[in-house]
Amino acid sequence: MKYIPEPFKIKMVEPIKVTTEEERRGLIAAADYNAFSLKAEDVYIDLLTDSGTGAMSDAQWAAMLMGDESYSGGRSYYQLIDTAKEIFGYEYIQPVHQGRAAEKVLFPVLVERPGQTVIANTFFDTTRAHVGLAGGRPIDCVCPEGLDSALDAPFKGNMDIATLEATIADLGVDNVAGIVMTITNNSVGGQPVSMANMRATAEIARRHHLPLVIDAARFAENAFFIKQREEGYADKSTREITREFFGYADIFTMSAKKDAITNMGGLLGVKEEGEHVPDVKSLVIAGEGYVTYGGLSGRDLAALAVGLGEGLDESYLAYRVGQSAYLAARLDEVGIPYQRPAGGHAVFIDAGRLLPHLPWNQYPGHALAVELYVEAGIRSCDIGSFLMDRDPETGLEQRAPLEFTRLAIPRRVYTQAHLDVIAEALGEVNKRADEVKGYQIISEPKVLRHFTSKLRPIG
Ligand code: F0G
Repeated sequence: MKYIPEPFKIKMVEPIKVTTEEERRGLIAAADYNAFSLKAEDVYIDLLTDSGTGAMSDAQWAAMLMGDESYSGGRSYYQLIDTAKEIFGYEYIQPVHQGRAAEKVLFPVLVERPGQTVIANTFFDTTRAHVGLAGGRPIDCVCPEGLDSALDAPFKGNMDIATLEATIADLGVDNVAGIVMTITNNSVGGQPVSMANMRATAEIARRHHLPLVIDAARFAENAFFIKQREEGYADKSTREITREFFGYADIFTMSAKKDAITNMGGLLGVKEEGEHVPDVKSLVIAGEGYVTYGGLSGRDLAALAVGLGEGLDESYLAYRVGQSAYLAARLDEVGIPYQRPAGGHAVFIDAGRLLPHLPWNQYPGHALAVELYVEAGIRSCDIGSFLMDRDPETGLEQRAPLEFTRLAIPRRVYTQAHLDVIAEALGEVNKRADEVKGYQIISEPKVLRHFTSKLRPIG
């Protein structure tokens, strides 16, 4: 790649602190070797998440000043609803405070009986948790290519269609509450789902009268990958692709903190007004707020309305997916293995392959994240066996299919020079990879352990 055209210039800057390696050793030890416990001001480049960490545009900030803070029926609400209806083509759009709020409202409506299964190409953690809290049983069904990090394939986020069919047949359709398509497929590396795969999944859903839900956090990046990689879509706009993709589903939940480039917000969309909407409204009023603000300020609704359009802009998307591709190309130069090709929002380093001397239950993905912080003040996180909670029945640790360290790139925040620092720092860590120590958990909560566990290095 020759260069990434960055389609913006910087109007406001925020200083970030550079610490010494010795300081960072003390800081991470004081944080019990859990990067979530670090103060953000002690981080140089923060790749913990791309969620809510993007830089809003001047147009978004201007819209915020015009936000209408009426309790009911505010102008900003209608601005958002009109924009979202036009983009997604759904009749009912419900704002909520973030993605997991939409999940919390939706799954009790979809899961009719305890023990019903919901099948996804791969659930994100909060989505999985809300299926469980609603009494459902979440099952992942990603295509086999998604679990082979060295394989370069265009749509590694796809649903495994044959296994989906077989699972529904095995369980009996009455025991299935619905199907979820996560775009992009975050947990397997920000990998996209093709239009053909969505169409095939929708055909199965229709045939069995099962609702098909899109977990749409990174819908615009997914649309851009379809444009770049799928035959027949090169000349379609990301808006047209989005409209077609959403046309195959019945419902979507969306964290607007990703592709809509806001710091807070979410949406729940229902294609046909009649179905599920009364239940959704009741749960939103009980838990989020009145339906025309859904737990957000009027100014948040206004920023979201503008951000939805900006997130679909193709010069922005070329830069956006270009950044992770650039970082991945730099990692190739220093011999770092990662989930190939780079994802939309992140590069997932295959720490299992980089640190083969560490067994899965010493958390290679976590060990690499700690090492990268010590090396250069870069914060990332484990997407591997440390992230997995214990089996609720046996209490045993569960092994993840792959041991990743995720480098999630905030939107419009870091420059190419920052990406160079990240690649160089990983190159340095690679030189002493065989000395990197594994970790042991010294205290952990029962669920979502990776956020608050305390750890120590082994040896
Ligand atoms: N779905 C997906 C695919 C996500 O990646 C996330 C959040 C959510 C739902 C939940 O949305 O955070 O707004 O409540 N992912 C963040 C991440 C936290 O770091 O990947 P939320």
